[in-house]
Amino acid sequence: MAEAGHKFLAKLGKKRLRPGGKLATDWLIEQGQFSSDKKVLEVACNMGTTTIELAKKYGCQITAVDLDTKALAQAHLAAAKVGVEEFVTFEKANAMKLPYEDDTFDIVINEAMLTMQTEKGKAKCMEEYYRVLKPGGVLLTHDVMLKQKDEAVRVELSRAINVNVGPLTEGSWIQLARSHRFDRVDTFVGEMTLMSVSGMIYDEGLGGTLKICFNALKKDNYSQFMKMFKMFQKNQEKLGFIAMASWK
Ligand SMILES: C[S@@+](CC[C@H](N)C(=O)[O-])C[C@H]1O[C@@H](n2cnc3c(N)ncnc32)[C@H](O)[C@@H]1O
Repeated sequence: MAEAGHKFLAKLGKKRLRPGGKLATDWLIEQGQFSSDKKVLEVACNMGTTTIELAKKYGCQITAVDLDTKALAQAHLAAAKVGVEEFVTFEKANAMKLPYEDDTFDIVINEAMLTMQTEKGKAKCMEEYYRVLKPGGVLLTHDVMLKQKDEAVRVELSRAINVNVGPLTEGSWIQLARSHRFDRVDTFVGEMTLMSVSGMIYDEGLGGTLKICFNALKKDNYSQFMKMFKMFQKNQEKLGFIAMASWK
């Protein structure tokens, strides 16, 4: 079976597997007003990049979950390497059935995962995020945004990354949050930078980008890399990112 785009990019050495990269994540972090006394849940943490950054910067307690056991093992190792194990707990859990009590967390952060879910799946995740957030808590999400509803682009994106994705327009993402009782929703939208050269340099540094390109040029990786790269280039006017802060 063809490898999912995010797994493929992680294999090449990419650490941020999200449409608006560090720019969008930094906006989310600003909205969250993180501090050492906040209880945080990261859903879909993958290799733990954001969780580890938050633990290092704010010293808050973070529970981070994903379904991918291999990525969770990488996250454990990465947290140990920088000495933040006391702040982070990595667990295997499904966003649609979170193993936590109601009203547990001040902040839930979830990047580049809702896009991968069906309409029903997105609704189930949003119910769970609302349930586990404390009253007054904030949900921070970051997803692929369609500038206009466009089934052809949705299909092209799904084929290029080997995942049947469901990106929404800005209005539909906001509606998703509002229909799940989040009464204040703030958004930040911008260009898709996941595979643009400037986006990769901003997110991964020059050394990281050179490493990704070196790996992309290897015989086994070249055709999948080019398939994804060309699709994002072709549709750069049609795709973007949306970061949202939604308050309970
Ligand atoms: C595109 S990656 C994004 C990873 C990371 N959040 C980032 O922005 O770099 C999507 C992640 O969502 C995880 N995922 C997909 N469905 C999930 C679910 N139902 N529950 C928890 N994690 C899920 C995948 O295993 C993968 O690690």
